[in-house]
Amino acid sequence: MFSKLCTRGLTTRVSCLAQKAQPKDQANVASLAVYEREQKYGAHNYHPLPVALTKGEGCFVWDVEGKRYFDYLSAYSAVNQGHCHPKIIKALTDQASKLALTSRAFYSDVLGEYEEYVTKLFGYEKVLPMNTGVEGGETACKLARKWGYLKKNIPKNQAKILFARNNFWGRTLSAVSASNDPSSYEGFGPFMPGFELIEYNNLIALAEALKDPNVCAFMVEPIQGEAGVVVPDEGYLRKVRELCSQHNVLWIADEVQTGLARTGKMLAVDYEEVQPDILILGKALSGGLYPVSAVLANDDVMLCIKPGEHGSTYGGNPLGSRVAIAALEVLQEEKLAENAFKMGELLRGELRKLPSDVVSVVRGKGLLNAIVINQKYDAWEVCLKLKDNGLLAKPTHGDIIRFAPPLVLNESQILESIDIIKKTILSM
Ligand SMILES: Cc1ncc(COP(=O)(O)O)c(C=O)c1O
Repeated sequence: MFSKLCTRGLTTRVSCLAQKAQPKDQANVASLAVYEREQKYGAHNYHPLPVALTKGEGCFVWDVEGKRYFDYLSAYSAVNQGHCHPKIIKALTDQASKLALTSRAFYSDVLGEYEEYVTKLFGYEKVLPMNTGVEGGETACKLARKWGYLKKNIPKNQAKILFARNNFWGRTLSAVSASNDPSSYEGFGPFMPGFELIEYNNLIALAEALKDPNVCAFMVEPIQGEAGVVVPDEGYLRKVRELCSQHNVLWIADEVQTGLARTGKMLAVDYEEVQPDILILGKALSGGLYPVSAVLANDDVMLCIKPGEHGSTYGGNPLGSRVAIAALEVLQEEKLAENAFKMGELLRGELRKLPSDVVSVVRGKGLLNAIVINQKYDAWEVCLKLKDNGLLAKPTHGDIIRFAPPLVLNESQILESIDIIKKTILSM
C-alpha cells in the first residue's frame, strides 16, 4: 500500500520513510496503520515524524507499540506542566461534570475567579479570554487598532501595526499577512493592509518605523520560537519598551510560546523587568489539555473594546477557566520556571560539548532551545535517529532542531535524554 502511494507520488516523505522502516521492524504494524489512515482521511497540512503516539505522562510519551520516548517538543510548548498532569486533569474532569460551557451570554461563577487570578498574577487590570494563540494575536491587533483610533487619533482605517521579520503567530489570514515566510503566505492573498515588517533585534529600524504617527503597535516575540529559537541581544526588550513609550505606540508581547515558565522565568520579558502594554498567552495556559489563550492589558487599552465588538463562543468558558487556574497553580507550586532555568543551563552546557562539525550552534533560554545542524547533515535524518534512540524532536527551517521538553524533567531525566542526543549526534 505504502509503496504504491509513494511511487504514485501521492504521499509524503513520512509514509515513504515508514515504508522503509517496515522490513527492519515488523512489529510496527500498528503505527503504520495509524499513518496510513491519517494520510488517507486527513488533510495533508502537516508533515509528522513517523511515530504514532497513544499515551503521555510527565516528560514521556509512548507509541502504539509501547515504546517510550522523551518528548522534546512538548506540543510546541503547550505541555510545560508535563503530559496529563493529575491536578489539571482533576480540575478538568470536576468542572466538565459540573458546567462546561455557558457562552458569554450569561455570567458563570468561574470566569471572574479566573480573571482575578490571572490579572493579579501578571500585574494587569484586565484580561480578555480566548482559545488559541492565534486568536490571542488577532485580539491584540484589534485592541491596538481600536486604541489607535480612540486614544491616538489615528485617521480612520489608517492604523499600522509593526511586526518583526520571521515572526510566527499562527495560520489565520491576519497571521499570514504578517509573515515573510512564503510557505505561510504564498497562495493565500490578498493580505491584511496596515501590517509592516521590520528586522528583529534591530532597534534602529524600530526607532525609524515608530516615527510614523499612524503606527499604533509593535508586536514581537521576546524570543522568536518558530523562527528557530532566535534570542535577541540583551537589552533589546528594555529598549523596545522605552521606544514604544516614547512614541506613544503599544508594545504587544507575544508570549504564547515563550511565556509560562518555558524560558526559565514566568515570562520571557521578566529577564529585562519590563511590562508590555498587551501580553498574549496561550498554549501552556491550559497545560496542554484544552485550548485556552488570554490577552492582558490595562483599562486604558482594554476598555476601548465595547460589548458586541469582539468575543468567542468558547472564550472564558467555565471549563477553560478552571483548567487555566490549575495550570497556572502547577507552574508556581512546582517551581517550573526555576527548574526550566536550571535544566536549561545543564542542557546547553552539554550540547555545547558536541562536535561542532555536526552541531554548529546551540542557543536558547531555559528549556526553549535549538541546535543548528551543519549543512553536511540532514536535520530530518537526525530527528529520525533521535526517535529510534527514544527522543522526539522536530526540525524547523531545514537545519534547526528545537529542544523544548516539558518543564517537569528532573536532573536524572535530563541527563538520560542528553545521553540519547550525544549518542545520536556522535553516530552521524
Ligand atoms: C509565538 C506564537 N504565537 C502564536 C502562536 C499560535 O498559537 P496557536 O497555534 O495556538 O494558534 C504560536 C504557535 O506556535 C506561537 O509560537
